[in-house]
Amino acid sequence: MKPAHFDRVWNILIVAAAAYSAVSIPARLVLDMHEQASMLGVLDGLVTLIFSADVVLRFRTSRRAAADSEHAARVHHSEYSATWRILDCIAAVPFSLLPVVGSIQVFRLTKLARVAQFMLLWQKRDVQRANILRLAFFAFWLALSTHWIACGWLALQNEPFESDSGEKYLGAMYWTMQTLSTVGYGDVKPSSNSQKMYAIGVMIFGVAVYGYIIGNVASVLAKIDPAKGHYLENLERLNAFLSYRSIPQPLQQRIRDYYEYLWEKRLGYDESSLVADLPPSLRTEVSLFLKKDIIEKVPLFKGAGETFIREIALGMRPVVYMPGDYVFRAGDSAGEMYFINTGRFEVVSKDGNTINTLTDGDFFGEIALFLNTPRTAGVRAVQYCDVYRLDKEAFDRVLLRYPEMAAHIEAMAKERQLRV
Ligand code: CMP
Repeated sequence: MKPAHFDRVWNILIVAAAAYSAVSIPARLVLDMHEQASMLGVLDGLVTLIFSADVVLRFRTSRRAAADSEHAARVHHSEYSATWRILDCIAAVPFSLLPVVGSIQVFRLTKLARVAQFMLLWQKRDVQRANILRLAFFAFWLALSTHWIACGWLALQNEPFESDSGEKYLGAMYWTMQTLSTVGYGDVKPSSNSQKMYAIGVMIFGVAVYGYIIGNVASVLAKIDPAKGHYLENLERLNAFLSYRSIPQPLQQRIRDYYEYLWEKRLGYDESSLVADLPPSLRTEVSLFLKKDIIEKVPLFKGAGETFIREIALGMRPVVYMPGDYVFRAGDSAGEMYFINTGRFEVVSKDGNTINTLTDGDFFGEIALFLNTPRTAGVRAVQYCDVYRLDKEAFDRVLLRYPEMAAHIEAMAKERQLRV
């Protein structure tokens, strides 16, 4: 088993063992569980074994880290050793075998600190499902709290310890649920002052939990698919704008089609603005990754040096054209050239005839940039097209620095010019 995989399985086992202890220890303190004593004894032994093995494993991992890097080890030690090791060791003590009062077993629940730590870690690692995990973890802690409150209620009751455990627990759970959910039928009443004070505390906790659920669960559910939420929000704003400015229906439809296409292709994200927020080194890496498909497709870039590819990747901006759109018409002034990622374009002469079609990996718009003339022909999208635009500034910079590329593009421009 790979170490990362083993770690994950082991941490899940720790969470399961800690959850078992968190349920069984308080229950045993307030309910008569003599009949299940032997089974609980075995399970307790197992938990002791798991927690002890955890102490050893974590100690070895930090020693190994120490061997790998002295600095890392120092960080590891200062951050984890002291507090975590004490908590881990306390949880590993076989309390049920000690000849002391049973309630000392609650110290085993220190392991729940680890559970909270794992949950934070899982949430951070699994960003995509962080919201679902948050809900699941909230449900976990709420279930445990409910159980503990029911056990606390039982501890304050004057009923004999030996009375029917199942019935007693059900009654306590019934009281806890109606108090926590702020329903409060009032059919189970606190009989002593301590129970009344306990009930006040639980009511306050119940209101807080209720408020948290109302405030957070709805927003967590809304955030489960942030991309979709963002897209729908944009679409609503757009629809409001279109109807406010009475944009003609066919044009409205084209605008909606465009957004739908963007949604299908890139989940509606504007890559350029997201990438622009990154620091320069990351921006280059991400730009290269996002544009690797076009860089691989364009024959002109085959065999080009890494610095050239980096420079050109940073200069290219993604643009989408819809069927029938003109990128430019013959005679327009020129400010950029284009590389086709996906889609098909027609090159249209001044008199409206189709001279050629261009597709994935082709480029166009270079003649006017090279010769500083108006566009020699028009270019029209035949279908939805994803292209990258290279501004004249970046184009000139690239030509200046990479004469062999310049020669290649010039040769292509001259050959095409002859055919216009
Ligand atoms: P430019 O003149 O800037 O704008 C029109 C573009 O169409 C032109 O650059 C070329 O990139 C492209 N083009 C012109 N003629 C042809 C052709 N015969 N085949 C392919 N592409 C062409």
